Amino acid sequence: MRVVFRIGGSVVASPINTQLMSKYIELLKAVKAEGNEVVVVVGGGSLAREFIGIAKKLDLEMQAQDEVAISVSRLFAQLFLKKFGDLSCSKVAVTLDDAAECLADGKVVVMGGLKPGITTDTVAALVAERVNADLLVKGTDQEGIYDKDPRKCADAVKLNQLSFDDLQGVLAETEHKAGIHQIIDPEAVKVLKRKRVKLIVVSGFKPENILAAVKGKKVGTVVN
Ligand code: UTP
Repeated sequence: MRVVFRIGGSVVASPINTQLMSKYIELLKAVKAEGNEVVVVVGGGSLAREFIGIAKKLDLEMQAQDEVAISVSRLFAQLFLKKFGDLSCSKVAVTLDDAAECLADGKVVVMGGLKPGITTDTVAALVAERVNADLLVKGTDQEGIYDKDPRKCADAVKLNQLSFDDLQGVLAETEHKAGIHQIIDPEAVKVLKRKRVKLIVVSGFKPENILAAVKGKKVGTVVN
C-alpha cells in the first residue's frame, strides 16, 4: 500500500516531544519494512505559531507569516528525515516532484510545508493525489472526527465512519489564515474527495494507531 502519514505539529511539536517522535520513526520503519510505500508530512506546531506571531508583530503580511511557519515545519521534517537514515531521501521534499521522485526511488518521503496559503493537511492531500496514494492517515490531537467541535461542546459525539459529503457538512469552511487549526482542513478534504483517497483520522498521541489504521483495524474515524 502507498500511504501518506500526516503527523500533527499539535501532536509531536506542541510541546516538542522527542520520545513520541522516536516512537513514530520506529513504527513508520515497521510500516515500510512490511512492504508499504511511506510519505510523512509533519507540521510546525506551536513553534510555527510562535514564528507566525513574531512575523505579525513585525507587521509582515500573511505570505511571510506562512513562509516562516513552513520553514519551521521543514525543520521538524529534517529531524524525522535524519532519524530515518538511509531509508529516506537525502533531503526534505519541498515540491510534489521531489516527493514523487523520492518515492519512485523506493525511499521514505519526508515533507513539511509546501507553499503559502495552505496547511500541511492540504500538502498531505496534494502529495497523496500526486503519487496516487491508497490512504491518508492523520494523527491529530483528538480521537477522531466529532459531529461538533469537542473542545467547545461537551455533548459532541465521535463519528466512526462517514462519507466525504458528510465530512464536508461537519467542517466549517474557513478562509486561510496563518496558523489556523481544524481537525482536518476542508481544502484537503476537497482534494481527497476528488481523488477518492481514503482518510483515517486518529489520535496522534497513541502512535500505534497508525499501524492499526494501515492494517484496516477499527480506529479513529474512517472517511471514504
Ligand atoms: P499546520 O497548521 O498545517 O501544521 O501548519 P500543524 O502544526 O501540524 O497543525 P495541526 O497539528 O494540524 O494544528 C502551520 C502553518 O504553516 C503554514 C500555515 O500558516 C499553517 O497554518 N503553512 C503550512 C503554509 O503556509 N503552507 C504549507 O504548505 C504548510
